Amino acid sequence: MTTRPELDLTDGGTFVRHDAREFWREVRASRPVYRHDGDPGFWVVARHADVLSCYADVRSLSSARGTVLDVLLGGGDSAGGKMLAVTDRPRHRELRNLMLRAFSPRVLRAVEQSLRVRASRLIGNVTRQGEFDFAAEVAEHIPMNTICDLLSVPEADREKLLRWNKSALSSDDAEARPLDALEARNEIVGYFMDLARHRREDPGGDVVSMIATARAGDRPLTLEEVALNCYSLVLGGDESSRVSAVCAVKTLAEHPAEWRALRDGSAGIDTAVEEVLRWATPAMHFARTATRDLEIRGSRVRAGDIVTLWNTSANDDEEVFAEPRRFDPARSPNRHVSFGHGPHFCVGAFLGRAELRALLAALTETVREIEVCGTPAPIYSNFLNGYGSLPVAFR
Ligand code: HEM
Repeated sequence: MTTRPELDLTDGGTFVRHDAREFWREVRASRPVYRHDGDPGFWVVARHADVLSCYADVRSLSSARGTVLDVLLGGGDSAGGKMLAVTDRPRHRELRNLMLRAFSPRVLRAVEQSLRVRASRLIGNVTRQGEFDFAAEVAEHIPMNTICDLLSVPEADREKLLRWNKSALSSDDAEARPLDALEARNEIVGYFMDLARHRREDPGGDVVSMIATARAGDRPLTLEEVALNCYSLVLGGDESSRVSAVCAVKTLAEHPAEWRALRDGSAGIDTAVEEVLRWATPAMHFARTATRDLEIRGSRVRAGDIVTLWNTSANDDEEVFAEPRRFDPARSPNRHVSFGHGPHFCVGAFLGRAELRALLAALTETVREIEVCGTPAPIYSNFLNGYGSLPVAFR
């Protein structure tokens, strides 16, 4: 690992090759809002307070051209105005109300219950079997199955959805091509167009049927809108939860005293879940496009400029977190921004937390010792943070 003052934030390899935490510490201290080179260049926002105020400022900062740097630099998101995450108000509010109705407390309670059962079974299966890949044997099976249960995706289709989804945003392969990601994304949207068509004709009690038959504002969603919003649940629901589960296990293996505290109850599972989310920061950044001129901490941003908000830096901000480089499963309060902030705050936050809770509960009940047995494979991405594989043994 080397530390350099200037890092190329457009290159996924940057976060594998460099000590990004040290880089962000320097950025927060010396140039908390700066202009990154490139054609086009973009603004980098690093401090917790500024990241929060940018997330909240939906008047000046739009999501509609896209919210991920690569997509914005590549010309923008074709789902803008149709998919929740890349839609501005007033349409955003209409879509969001519809999506929130789909996640009623009754639906979520049932999901939480089946999550606990699934996590215990998966952990039970791998414990005492010797070395295994936690990402492949456990983490992959929790979020995708949870979201597929909600959407009533047939069992036989889940494997291919997971495969497409893995190449749609991130990659454990340094040689992956942007075209692979685009193809994977088209496959997923096409799959949900077909599913939505069937569910509209013959609705059930699942989330796809609900979105396909409900109205947002004064009209039903088009089939494309239904498909894109199902896709956004798979996209948001699978990857970030999967990498946070992997990070949870890796971090607990590397912090035996904290793992003991969790097992003996001196640190609670709920605070540990929040600290894992802060520590992992699965979505390193989100991005916006300025709709008018504005100032961010004295920097003059012009209408049309791209502004990137670095959760990964905000979650390490020493002005907000005491000893940010210490993994403290009892940390409270914990004002991490891993789920974003403001009107676009993650609609799946309850599920993401429930998945980690189920995992940590199953681990503390079953496992005494976690050992990392090999080198974890890092994900090459400037968006998704974490590892695509994690060889471990549970005792
Ligand atoms: C939005 C992170 C789990 C679906 C967001 C945002 C963040 C985030 C940071 C804000 C994006 C922005 O402001 O542009 C995470 C993390 C998760 C997680 C770290 C797990 C640990 C989930 C799950 C689902 C989901 C389980 C689906 C059930 C969404 C959707 C949005 C969103 C649809 C867009 C909300 C809107 O624009 O109103 N997520 N998420 N996420 N997330 Fe999650």
